[in-house]
Amino acid sequence: MTVSHDPANPLVVVVGITGLQGGSVARALIDSDKPYRIRGLTRDASKPAAQTFAAQGVQIVSVSLTTDNVGNVRKAFEGADIVFAVTNFNEHMDKQREIDEGKMMVTTAKDVGVKLFIWSALESLSAPSGGKYSSVGFFEAKHEITEYAKSSKIPLAVVPAGYYASNVFEASYALKKQADGSYVFGLPVPASTQVPVIDVAYDYGLYVRAAIENPALGAGSEVRSGTLISFGEIVAQLSKVSGKKITYVQMDRETFIEATGMPKYGPMLSDMFEAFAAHGYYRGKEITSETMLARKPRSWADFLDATQVQNFFV
Ligand SMILES: NC(=O)c1ccc[n+]([C@@H]2O[C@H](COP(=O)([O-])OP(=O)(O)OC[C@H]3O[C@@H](n4cnc5c(N)ncnc54)[C@H](OP(=O)(O)O)[C@@H]3O)[C@@H](O)[C@H]2O)c1
Repeated sequence: MTVSHDPANPLVVVVGITGLQGGSVARALIDSDKPYRIRGLTRDASKPAAQTFAAQGVQIVSVSLTTDNVGNVRKAFEGADIVFAVTNFNEHMDKQREIDEGKMMVTTAKDVGVKLFIWSALESLSAPSGGKYSSVGFFEAKHEITEYAKSSKIPLAVVPAGYYASNVFEASYALKKQADGSYVFGLPVPASTQVPVIDVAYDYGLYVRAAIENPALGAGSEVRSGTLISFGEIVAQLSKVSGKKITYVQMDRETFIEATGMPKYGPMLSDMFEAFAAHGYYRGKEITSETMLARKPRSWADFLDATQVQNFFV
C-alpha cells in the first residue's frame, strides 16, 4: 500500500528513519495492507534514505532528538497516534545520554497523547548476573528506559531488536584471517552459545508492524525479534556458503580482549558475550512466533543467500 495522507488514518512517527531499524519500520508499514500516515524523523532531510521515503509520500521532519531540544521534539511528535522510538548508543557511547534521550522521548510522547509507544528495548544483562555484567551500557540504558516507560503508564509495546546478522561481518574483532588464508571466528564463549539473529533492515519492521496490527499484541506486549542460532552454527553455515575455511574458537577472556584491539571496550564486549552465554540475549524469554508476523523473517541461511558474502573476505 502507499502512504496515506488521509487524516482519518493513524499517524505513525518513526524515529531514526534513515537508520536500520527506523527504515525497516517505515518499509514494513508502507508494505502493509492497512493505511498509515508516516512521519519520519532525521537530523538531515537531505540524506538519500530520507529522500527515498519522501518520494514515497513520507513526511520527513528534521529534528535533533536531544534533551536540549524538547520543544522541537514535541512539535515532531505532535498529532502522532503511534511513535516508534530507538536510541543510538553507538553514536556517542554515553549510557547516561542514551537514558536521558530515551526518557525524554517517552515523556514527550506521553504529553502529546500517543495511543501506542513502540520502544526498541534491550534487556538488562546486569540483573540476572547479580551485577557481574553491568558494564554493557547500551543494554542497561535501554532497560532503564523500558522501566521508566512502564512506570509512566504510557501505552507501551516493547520490541527489542535481535542480534544483527551484519554484526558477524562488522565485528572485525571476531573474524580474523590467518596466515594460511583460512579464518578464525573467536569469541569468549562456547560455540553452543545462541543469539536471536535478525536481518534487521529486512525484518525488524515486521515485528513492529505486528505490535501495531496483531490484535494479540499492541499495548502491554513484548515482541521479541530474531531466530535463535548458535555461534558455532553461524560459522558453519558461513563457511559453507562462502567456501572459506572458518573455524570457531572459544577464546579466554583476556585473549579475546587483546584480540579486539580495544582496551576500553573489549572488556564490555566480553561481558556482553559472557552474559549471552550465561543468561541468554533475552534472558530466556520467548521469541515472538513467526506465525504472528505478516511474513516469514529471514533465517541466518536466508540472510547469507541474500548477501554478497565474498565482499566481506578481503
Ligand atoms: N547491533 C546489534 O546487534 C543491535 C541489536 C539490538 C539493538 N541495537 C541498538 O540499535 C541502536 C541503533 O539503531 P540502528 O541500527 O537503527 O542505528 P543506525 O542505522 O545507525 O541509525 C541511527 C538512526 O538514529 C538517528 N539518530 C541518531 N541520533 C539522533 C538524534 N540526536 N536526533 C535524531 N535522530 C538521531 C539517525 O538519524 P540521522 O543520522 O539521519 O539524523 C539514524 O536514523 C543502538 O542503540 C544499538 O545499541 C543494536
